[in-house]
This record gives sequence, structure tokens and C-alpha cells, in this order.
Amino acid sequence: MRKQIAAANWKMNLTYAQGEQLVNDLLSQSSVPESNREVVLGVPFPYLSMVAQKIKGHHGYSVAAQNCSQHKAGAYTGETSAEMLTSIGVQYVILGHSERREYFSESNQLLADKLNIALSYGLTPIFCCGEPLSIREAETQNSFVETQLRESLFHLSAEELQKLVIAYEPIWAIGTGKTATADQAQDMHAHLRSVLAAQYGAEVANRISILYGGSVKGSNAAEIFSKPDVDGGLVGGASLKADEFIQVINGLK
Ligand code: 13P
Repeated sequence: MRKQIAAANWKMNLTYAQGEQLVNDLLSQSSVPESNREVVLGVPFPYLSMVAQKIKGHHGYSVAAQNCSQHKAGAYTGETSAEMLTSIGVQYVILGHSERREYFSESNQLLADKLNIALSYGLTPIFCCGEPLSIREAETQNSFVETQLRESLFHLSAEELQKLVIAYEPIWAIGTGKTATADQAQDMHAHLRSVLAAQYGAEVANRISILYGGSVKGSNAAEIFSKPDVDGGLVGGASLKADEFIQVINGLK
């Protein structure tokens, strides 16, 4: 079975002490994930080392940065490189979140560059895609998301592509409390997998975990994750409370 992943995206929330408490609570209250399950904690840069230290020895837990530079190193004030992340024990990096696309003008081409550098330093990218409400209302979401994949991913070899995790996050469902239905998520995930299969073959496409994100919480996670092409979730608001996020983790297949 593909890896089933509950990924937290704390975004720009919590103080250091609050983050520490949350990780302590998660580690003490959640059960050890089974071998095909993984919990990924996407935390702000200043907390990465602390979380990486805390999860050491906890099987099935990993830490993710929420971004990295497209540049290797050098005079880029305020930026964080992929190499810096691997040097402190970070395993994953979230790339192409819709908030970064919208507020920091990240384009599909820029994301292709970020993916290259992340992969070259051994980070696993969680590549986000998803359509705004206007596109969903026009019923052109399939081609919109296909373009995001084509322009950011299709230069990768099959071997590189298999190292990715993909997260489908319809923008209209992020932070709105309005989740896609489990069937809407399944339809898009099946479409994404078919787009990958057409380019790389079904075997490669079937190995890639595709997460759903957008108002996932304890009470809806299990239903959404039960769909055959949904391999877990990327969770914002509900990842900030230990009991809520533990319910999400318990909803994994
Ligand atoms: P919410 O779970 O708060 O809707 O956020 C989803 C998200 O953007 C995760 O990356």
C-alpha cells in the first residue's frame, strides 16, 4: 500500500513554547503509527530543530519546512536553503502552497526550480496544487490543476517524481470550514493520478501518495481518507490542537 500520511501545516502560528507543548502532547498521546503510516509536522523555521530533536526515536514521525529557496546558497537575505534544512535533520519541505503562490507570487516555473533543489539535497517535497473558486465554478479545475503539474513536475525523471508527495488543496476549501466532499476529493485525486500515469506510466503514478487539504478535521478525516486515491491529508487549523490532530492521524487508512 502507498504510504498514508497525516501532515500538519502550522503555517505562521504558535509561539515556541506552544509549539513545544503541542509536539509533547502529540508524542505522548498518539499511538505509534503503523509501518505504512507517517505523521509529518510542517512547522515554522525557528522551530524545525526543536521538533527534529523531539521526534528523534519516534518511529513514523518526520518534520517538514514550509518553504525553501530556489537558490543553492549565497547573498539572498532572509532565505533558507534546502541544504540548511537537511543539515538540521529536516526530511520534508512543503512547496507551492496556495498561500505562497498568492502572497509571494510563486509561479509554476519557480516551483520547478525549488523542486529541483529540494530533491538534489534529499528532501521530500510535498508539492501543493489546487484551484480557486472561480475555476471550480467554471468546472475547469481538472485542466487547471493538470497545468500546475505539467509546468512544475514534468521535467523530472520518473525516479525523481516518485520521491514526491502531492497535496491537492482546493483554495476554496482552505481555512473556510467548507471542505470538498470525499467524492470531490476522490475525483480530483483520480484525475491527478491519471495525469501522472499518462506521462510516467501507471506503476509510477500508483506509487505516489496524494494528500487532500482544505478544512480537514477530526470529524471528517476518516471519510475523506477512506477514498481509494486519497492517501491522507495536509492539515492547517486542525493540526494546531493535539486532540484534533490525533483524530486526523487515527483517520488514516
Ligand atoms: P485548513 O486545514 O486550515 O483548511 O488549511 C489547509 C491547508 O492549507 C494546509 O496546507
